[in-house]
Amino acid sequence: MKYGIIIHGGAWDIPDELVDNHLNGINNALELGYSLLEDNSNAIDIAEKVIVLLENDPTFDAGKGSFLNALGNVEMDAIIATDNYKIGSVAALNNYPNPIKIARAIYDFDGPVLLVGEGAKIFAEQFGFQQCKIEDLLVGRELKRYLKLKNDNSFVPKDAFKQKTRGTVGTVVLDKRGRIAVAVSTGGTPKKPPGRVGDTPLFGAGAYVEKNKLGVAATGYGEDLIKVLISRRVLDFYDRGYNPLESTEQAISFLSKSVKGLGGVITLGKEGLGLAFNTPRMVFGVQTDEIKSFIGINQKDREKLLKQL
Ligand code: GLY
Repeated sequence: MKYGIIIHGGAWDIPDELVDNHLNGINNALELGYSLLEDNSNAIDIAEKVIVLLENDPTFDAGKGSFLNALGNVEMDAIIATDNYKIGSVAALNNYPNPIKIARAIYDFDGPVLLVGEGAKIFAEQFGFQQCKIEDLLVGRELKRYLKLKNDNSFVPKDAFKQKTRGTVGTVVLDKRGRIAVAVSTGGTPKKPPGRVGDTPLFGAGAYVEKNKLGVAATGYGEDLIKVLISRRVLDFYDRGYNPLESTEQAISFLSKSVKGLGGVITLGKEGLGLAFNTPRMVFGVQTDEIKSFIGINQKDREKLLKQL
């Protein structure tokens, strides 16, 4: 493969009535990303723009449409990184429309790798980002979910990944000059405790990338993805001689066996692509110089895509 892009929109039991919205959202992001790729844009600029589009789409649990935490606030995590070990990430960030843009500013600043909460806000203000109102991020559906879960002491966040809901967004881009970038953004899990940070902003967990090898973006129940460093684990399998597809399958199999984790990963590099998930659904899109635009949401779609590899 000379260049390409792969995108995910979360691994959950995406309900039938939301399937079209998910497929459309990923399709829009893929069209944008691939047209930028053909125009010779940088991998990192493409990754950022694709994630901004998905953060602005309330279908997904990122930016607008994020889940509310246990106090009824929005706290978001995001990461952007390239294959030269340059990283920018934010965690527990309140009320900004596009956390990925703040992660990108941290990336460009090239000092701290990860800023959280109040510190991330101070940085964002210094760099001219405007905070929005929670109402700008809140969609009625999430307010309803919050009010329903607020006093439900039996709710287990991990079970949400088996339930009918929505997810994190992520992408891996290989540009025409062979550079790889990864970007992921999330509102986290429903009713998470304030200050809870998931896998997304942690390099090696929510995303990982190495030069001339692979970029990886993850989605799923963050606590388990952190425990097994899921994105870095894909590279571990790759380094042991598995191809990109097998590396994703091995990593998800390890997630299932070791911690009974729930989630999915996507990967892309010159040697090919891979994707695997153990949740009922994961919405994804792929386009490369060798593979025409392909959007899918379940294991059957994944099998169809794999026949083209
Ligand atoms: N994978 C997103 C999260 O658990 O926060």
